[in-house]
Amino acid sequence: MSGAESRAGTAGTPAGASRSAIEHHYDVGSDFYRLWLDREMVYSCALWDGPLDDGLDDAQVAKLAWHADSARVDGAARVLDVGCGWGAMLRYLTGSRGVGHATGLTLSADQAAAAASASASASASASVEVRLEDWREHRPEQPYDAVISIGAFEHFARNDLDTAGRRSVYSAFFAACSGWLRAGGRLSLQTIAYEDFDTGSGTESRFFTEEIFPESSLPVLTDIVAASDPWFGIEVLRSDAAHYEHTLELWQRRLQAAEGPAIRLVGRDVYRRYVRYLRVSRGLFDRRVCTLYRISLRRRAAPTRLGS
Ligand SMILES: C[S@@+](CC[C@H](N)C(=O)[O-])C[C@H]1O[C@@H](n2cnc3c(N)ncnc32)[C@H](O)[C@@H]1O
Repeated sequence: MSGAESRAGTAGTPAGASRSAIEHHYDVGSDFYRLWLDREMVYSCALWDGPLDDGLDDAQVAKLAWHADSARVDGAARVLDVGCGWGAMLRYLTGSRGVGHATGLTLSADQAAAAASASASASASASVEVRLEDWREHRPEQPYDAVISIGAFEHFARNDLDTAGRRSVYSAFFAACSGWLRAGGRLSLQTIAYEDFDTGSGTESRFFTEEIFPESSLPVLTDIVAASDPWFGIEVLRSDAAHYEHTLELWQRRLQAAEGPAIRLVGRDVYRRYVRYLRVSRGLFDRRVCTLYRISLRRRAAPTRLGS
């Protein structure tokens, strides 16, 4: 058993969203998402260093840069992106940050194909590998210098798990990241989390679990802290609910501006479902039912039991 496997401890981990649940959302088609995402097709909350303006392309690059800095990737030989979407981070790492080899994992076949073809010529001196693979199955042959995961943690725990169940999945994820990293390596994580459970209506949550993100549930901050603590020290944590509210507003405006082409691609029902999902999600951030965490974590040399 490799060091990675012995530290990962993923055997018997309860499942998160299945491949078919992920495909339900992401395989609506890359052409549809291209109509309303930014130039690089980043599908997660953007980041504004100054006022929340309409420059979505720049704000998405600023987000990629924040995580690249947080994971200290400059000149790294090997970086892993867990939940790589359409591959924007992989191209950014190899094209702008001197990373030698970037590996991305996704459960969506559409994304994997699109990311692999868009990344084929990202940089002459670097390589990009896109794998249609669950993080639970990932067994790298060599350690990574850094791991980044943006907007995927939301899918790791199924919605039928209780707090203990969620924490055991998250714990397995942090243990796996620790096992994949070299000594002193960093993990940069971005995830939506519940901030206030009380205010979501039953109809809203049914709409999300049945129609938008089946088999997925959100963490709360204490889940993340408890599950990561044995393996990682948290160095920076920022909460950017307003940034997600604004990102969702820009996505909704762009999708509605492309109503005709969108309906031609996916039909009126799917178009309406997405407009509703973007509008309802925005309300969740506005009311602070949800927030968006960006977290910079440093791998511990050995697991600690300080918090247990
Ligand atoms: C919201 S997208 C974010 C994509 C990208 N990080 C970005 O910011 O554009 C979530 C991604 O997580 C991936 N994902 C979800 N569960 C996963 C799992 N268990 N293993 C690997 N990837 C997973 C999905 O396939 C998808 O690529």
